[in-house]
Amino acid sequence: MKVLVIGSGAREHAIADALLRGGSVEEVTVAPGNPGMELEDGIRTLQLAPSNQAALIDFVRNNDYDWVFVGPEVPLIDGIVDAFAEAGIKAFGPRKAAAQIEGSKDFAKQLMERYGIPTAAYRTFDELAPAVEYVHGHGAPIVIKADGLAAGKGVTVAMDEETAVAALNDIFVDHRFGAAGAKVVVEDYLEGQEFSLMSFVSGTDFWPMPISQDHKRAYDDDQGPNTGGMGAYSPVPQIGQDVVDEAIATIVKPTVEAMAQDGTPFTGILYAGLIATADGPKVIEFNARFGDPETEVVLPKLTSDLGAAVDAILNGETPEFTWDEDHATLGVVLASDGYPNDVVKGARIPELHVDDDSHVYYAGVARDGDGLVANSGRVLLVESSAPTLAEAQHKVYAILDAADTTGMFYRHDIGAKALKD
Ligand code: AMP
Ligand code: GLY
Repeated sequence: MKVLVIGSGAREHAIADALLRGGSVEEVTVAPGNPGMELEDGIRTLQLAPSNQAALIDFVRNNDYDWVFVGPEVPLIDGIVDAFAEAGIKAFGPRKAAAQIEGSKDFAKQLMERYGIPTAAYRTFDELAPAVEYVHGHGAPIVIKADGLAAGKGVTVAMDEETAVAALNDIFVDHRFGAAGAKVVVEDYLEGQEFSLMSFVSGTDFWPMPISQDHKRAYDDDQGPNTGGMGAYSPVPQIGQDVVDEAIATIVKPTVEAMAQDGTPFTGILYAGLIATADGPKVIEFNARFGDPETEVVLPKLTSDLGAAVDAILNGETPEFTWDEDHATLGVVLASDGYPNDVVKGARIPELHVDDDSHVYYAGVARDGDGLVANSGRVLLVESSAPTLAEAQHKVYAILDAADTTGMFYRHDIGAKALKD
């Protein structure tokens, strides 16, 4: 089969790599992709933006691609799957109406409220004054979320009322998130370990993947600003299988059933960002796509054929998934200095010496002469697989520590929460 993958990050590199590894897909083109992925045999890139739906449709038609895999949320929320469907092209991902589960926090919260899916109690506001009044009545800690997409940066976990009010002012007065901040969700603070539970979904059927844990803050010890994610690992030993089973039963299953019941059935990858509270697992957020960087540590564990499974789902058949449960995987993001607020581009990408059980998944890189340079915040991710998390962690840091990463930085404690006991 020939597959077009939409997107350009390390997540799309990992998707393309897994598709090629499976066997039934011979050729993968990533639009727009990045020049780092082109270093891998079988991956090509195509300079078309995900927003250029008409040109992407023409390309798929004229070049006999079997189907399309949509990586990022923006084209999904813009309705790219609907546009492909209208053109008679199969694309894996939710339609626009279903992608609202990520596109609007208020939509997701209302769905959870209607169907009794465990999440933090909340209120939605579209004006400053009542939101401020609510914060003062409720007290801190409290969490302020811009309703729409904000690339992981629209959330403020406020440990005092002043910070919460400042976040509300940012959104309503300074319009920091533009239209994404027209509405604000204010929700209760939840305490516990976070984990990511992603599932392949076809209507009311779903196939959960191994869980993973992201690291959202920029610096070691969870300091600094929130980012798109600085590293991840899988499994997450501090989250027991009983918690995962409970999350599947009380969150994933009722959510996909609710989506179908409401006339917005979900097909694609449903990402549940969860927190294991004393009161059981609760939803922090849903995403309508693979997580980044979680995908880069989860897909290397897939031992079955990803392309065959997606093809089966797109044809209404039952897919098969098998996972390597005997190995741990860990991935660390290399980011440009200043990420996420004041990215300094242009650092040279060093040569990274990886073995057969490790990958470099490229993200924000551009060609410069014979080499590559950093041209955005998250530059690449190094992932290793090993019998234990400690060994996987050791391998990744041996690769990164040996490289000249001038002009870039990475966290030194990815996986530490799992290894501290
Ligand atoms: P989100 O973009 O919704 O994933 O939120 C970003 C980060 O904020 C999450 O990964 C959590 O660490 C934190 N967060 C979000 N909602 C809550 C909550 N209700 N209680 C505690 N922390 C939260
Ligand atoms: N790693 C979090 C996300 O993909 O949204």
